Amino acid sequence: MARNHFKVSMEALVSLCKRRGFIFQGSEIYDGINGFWDYGPLGCELKRNIREAWWRDIVQRRENIVGLESAIIMHPKVWEASGHVSSFADPMVDCKACHKRFRADQLCEEQGLQLVKTAKGFELPAAAKCPACASPELIAPRSFNLMLKTFVGPVEEESALTYLRPETAQGIFVQYANILAVSRQKIPFGIAQIGKAFRNEINPRNFTFRSREFEQMELEFFIKPGTEAEWFVYWVKERLRWYETIGLSAVSLRQYEYRADELAHYASACVDIQYDFPFGFQELEGIAARGDFDLRQHQKFSGKSLEYFDPETGEKFVPHVVEPSAGVDRIALALLCEAYREEWVPGGDQAGEVLVAEPGKPAPAGYEARTVLGFAPWIAPIKVAVFPLLKNKPDLVQKGREVFALLQKRWNCFWDVAGAIGRRYRRQDEIGTPYAVTIDFQTLTDNTVTLRERDSMKQTRLTIAALPDHLAAALD
Ligand code: GAP
Repeated sequence: MARNHFKVSMEALVSLCKRRGFIFQGSEIYDGINGFWDYGPLGCELKRNIREAWWRDIVQRRENIVGLESAIIMHPKVWEASGHVSSFADPMVDCKACHKRFRADQLCEEQGLQLVKTAKGFELPAAAKCPACASPELIAPRSFNLMLKTFVGPVEEESALTYLRPETAQGIFVQYANILAVSRQKIPFGIAQIGKAFRNEINPRNFTFRSREFEQMELEFFIKPGTEAEWFVYWVKERLRWYETIGLSAVSLRQYEYRADELAHYASACVDIQYDFPFGFQELEGIAARGDFDLRQHQKFSGKSLEYFDPETGEKFVPHVVEPSAGVDRIALALLCEAYREEWVPGGDQAGEVLVAEPGKPAPAGYEARTVLGFAPWIAPIKVAVFPLLKNKPDLVQKGREVFALLQKRWNCFWDVAGAIGRRYRRQDEIGTPYAVTIDFQTLTDNTVTLRERDSMKQTRLTIAALPDHLAAALD
């Protein structure tokens, strides 16, 4: 799919998300809370469609991958074993002048500088300045653990301390043996999980991109030692393909391959799939060949064997793992960026050339401006809008209700009787609804309706009976 030529600004996107009910600042009536977001009626449909597309592709269409929903709060030892308690941290810097706080690595990167790693931690280069007030007076970086803490039970004491999970992956490793026992799977096989994760990010930013509460879709694919290289290549290819099927264009996606010195000590390879956001190429998903590190750590800390017995060869081994780990919120944001476009279209939806709008300029004579979210139909929050031509004609409204009931059985539909038809079309264009069905006076005589397509604005007349099959070809 080719990318549309319109490059959206974050201001325009954030404004549309709020105005149309995709995303709101969390706790907004209390002036918000930094790093937390609420998804409104359209945003939660968009996220559901992303989750469903991933689950269908990863779990339901494969025989050797099964699902899991583990608890958000786990035994605190899980996080000792995984290494999160000791080393899930970012270097944090404070400004002495304005007291604002930043991530030292991001601050250096933005100023074209290199953060220096020393035996004791990190050192800022002398040229580093506060990004907020430009003061050079910065406190030396300190390590800040990103896990959010909580207490389980009525007493807030050290023994009751636990954490909100910073990733869903550890739930999978901890249940690996149970799932292997009940699912009759043989290696290679995978366990997938979708769920919330929490990180006390030092500097949440870029709208929902870096939040403190977010959602992950993770797969742990368990394999025989020595087969990492081929499975790693397989999963990178599979995941890139998936991003294109949900509507992200190949030109907006790229892979970032980690250098040997960037890899965790246990990993043999890692690739980030990045998307070209308005704020630059940034990670949507990481795919890592993690060896047997996680299972071995849990074996050590729990004292339970997590070895696999291969019935064909009689060998026993701790499986290695390839982990594709994606973020639902970042994918939703990427889809919104990709889909957003402003156009100048021939007035009255007449046939003619559609022009890419120039921001800040009025549409030329004979044209009108429209904003469109060009989502792929299977990702769009609402699939079909149903419009009786006039709200004060009971026959039209009743017929419209029949059509609505027919389509609502299969798809998420929207009912709108208010205002001029052109304005109703524009409202649906702006939220990405791919189809609109209009019921007019001809419908009452021959049971035909007008089907209007969002991108081409083409209108075709077809019978109500033919509608479901016609729409199914595009929507399912
Ligand atoms: N188990 C591996 C793991 O958690 P990660 O790269 O830290 O790896 C995986 O996270 C994905 O989770 C990222 O690619 C991103 O999509 C999402 N993610 C991570 N931190 C996030 C944050 N603060 N806000 C939103 N999404 C985040």
